[in-house]
Amino acid sequence: MNALRPAQPLLAPSLLSADFARLGEALSLLEEAGNCIAHVDVMDGRFVPNITIGLPVVASLRKATQLHLDCHLMIVEPLRYATEFVAAGANWVSVHQEADPHLHRTLSAIRAAGAKAGVVLNPSTPVETLVDLVGDFDFVLLMSVNPGFGGQTFIPRVFDKLKRLDALRTERNTPFFIQVDGGVSADNAQELVRAGADVLVAGNAVFKAPEPIGAIRELVSKMQQGRSI
Ligand code: DX5
Ligand code: ZN
Repeated sequence: MNALRPAQPLLAPSLLSADFARLGEALSLLEEAGNCIAHVDVMDGRFVPNITIGLPVVASLRKATQLHLDCHLMIVEPLRYATEFVAAGANWVSVHQEADPHLHRTLSAIRAAGAKAGVVLNPSTPVETLVDLVGDFDFVLLMSVNPGFGGQTFIPRVFDKLKRLDALRTERNTPFFIQVDGGVSADNAQELVRAGADVLVAGNAVFKAPEPIGAIRELVSKMQQGRSI
């Protein structure tokens, strides 16, 4: 048992792959399946080449569910909006390292507003860039695709980054959780958890599956197997 990691792995299905006209039903599905939080991909058409969900949608999701809302901000100048997402109901807010030269300030503001603060690293950003921030974030999200779209192919190099980040957590004896996002499926979930991931984001693998609840349960079971070895 590693006290630096959460006791149980969690799945964060990404609403980006759900039907936007039926987000309430998507939330009910996650509640029914269990072991889930809701991942909300916020994109501004500037940091990434796509535009998705904003503050009013997060406020509506908040009214519709007790589930934790995990807002992944793929926006430029995240400090401008990060605490507004907390006010709208986000429980976790993550911001891209590449989008923010003042990460310490932004992470502190998210925590002060009452949410868990996370740093996101693109596939090309090394985990070593976080060395001087350990203790200032609650979690790290490692992208395993280039952000912007669901349904892309998993980039396996993230395994090496995961191992290095897990080692950093041990070396500093500082608890934080590690999330992986992009191209996650039942084929890689177990190995990702074994390499150090605690929370896996899955969009298409859940919402494009013929049986989303069955897909969630299979992913959660693979994750639990990754922790039991
Ligand atoms: C990509 C988003 C992901 C995406 C994952 O920019 O951050 O959360 O929705 O979708 P899949 O699991 O289909 O790769
Ligand atoms: Zn995401």
